[in-house]
Amino acid sequence: METEKMIRSRKAVRHYTGQITDEQLNKILLAANAGPVGMGEYNNYRLTVIQNSDILNKMSGIYDAPTVIVVSAEDPDAMEDVSAGAIVHNMELAAEDQGLGANYNMSSVGSIPANVLPTGFRGIFALTLGQTDEKFVPREIPLDRIKTNFVK
Ligand SMILES: Cc1cc2nc3c(=O)[nH]c(=O)nc-3n(C[C@H](O)[C@H](O)[C@H](O)COP(=O)(O)O)c2cc1C
Repeated sequence: METEKMIRSRKAVRHYTGQITDEQLNKILLAANAGPVGMGEYNNYRLTVIQNSDILNKMSGIYDAPTVIVVSAEDPDAMEDVSAGAIVHNMELAAEDQGLGANYNMSSVGSIPANVLPTGFRGIFALTLGQTDEKFVPREIPLDRIKTNFVK
C-alpha cells in the first residue's frame, strides 16, 4: 500500500482469525531489521517470535494472538525503550500492509514465562499478530488528535 494511505489505515487489531504464514512473518522481521535504533547498535536488541501455544496461553493481555514478537534488550534504558517502539511500529506497518491484524503490546511483557527470552535480555515491547477479517481503509484523523504548539 502507498505510504500515506497505509499510515492512515493502520489501526490496533485485537481479534485474530488464524496463524500468519512464514512468508508473512519474514516480511515483518525484515521491517524490524529496517527500523532505526539508537546509535545504530543493533546487537543490543533481540527479537523473539513466540508461536508456541503452551507459552502463549501463559501470557496475559494478548487477545489470543497466535503470534507474539517481543523486542528485548540488556538493561534497557530510555534509548532502548524508544528504539523498541520504532522496531515494533515498523513491524506493525509491515503486518497491516499485508492485511494482517496487529497491535502494540506492553501489557503482556511482564507475563512472558522464564527462559523464553535470551538469557540476560529483558522484554520491552511486543507486537501481537494474526490473520484478520478487518479491512484497512484510510481513517479520518483529526490534525489535533495530539495537541500541538508551534514555535515559529
Ligand atoms: C507504547 C504502546 C503500548 C501499547 N500497549 C498496548 C497493550 O498492552 N494492549 C493493547 O491492547 N493495546 C496497546 N497499545 C495500542 C494502543 O492502545 C492503540 O494504539 C491506541 O489506542 C490508538 O489506537 P489505534 O492504534 O487504533 O490508532 C499500545 C500502544 C502503544 C504505542
